[in-house]
Amino acid sequence: MAERELSVGEVAKRCGVNVSTLHFYEEKGLINSWRNPGNQRRYKADVLRRVSVIKAAQKLGISLQDIKLAFASLPASRTPTKQDWVKLSSSWQQQLEARIQSMIKLKDSLDACIGCGCLSMKTCPIYNPQDKLATEGPGPVLLER
Ligand code: FES
Repeated sequence: MAERELSVGEVAKRCGVNVSTLHFYEEKGLINSWRNPGNQRRYKADVLRRVSVIKAAQKLGISLQDIKLAFASLPASRTPTKQDWVKLSSSWQQQLEARIQSMIKLKDSLDACIGCGCLSMKTCPIYNPQDKLATEGPGPVLLER
């Protein structure tokens, strides 16, 4: 069965991104296309998964550079298999886990003192009397520990 070829418009529509975003991802080396005899850009169908993973990763605050590093483990010349994606996700596991832990910590700390110096919460006198945590550095010291 011939591999599905998609136009830049079809990819943009299916992935919910602008055509300019696809051009940008291509410039950054995150996705590839080729030109058909009519000199129009064409993509293989697996680009839909790549763009979707890029969008999801960006929403989590992962940089394009880190995404590119992770994508480097994917084969350029063939559609990635499940094993390829497992390999990619294992390389990202630690980073994603760290983000999950930071998000949980933020969620759990929002009703308590985060050591930011405001001294506005009931628990601040306990955890940060007279803003003594300022000696440890700038920002929400307790949140960043
Ligand atoms: S929350 Fe800001 S110092 Fe406690």
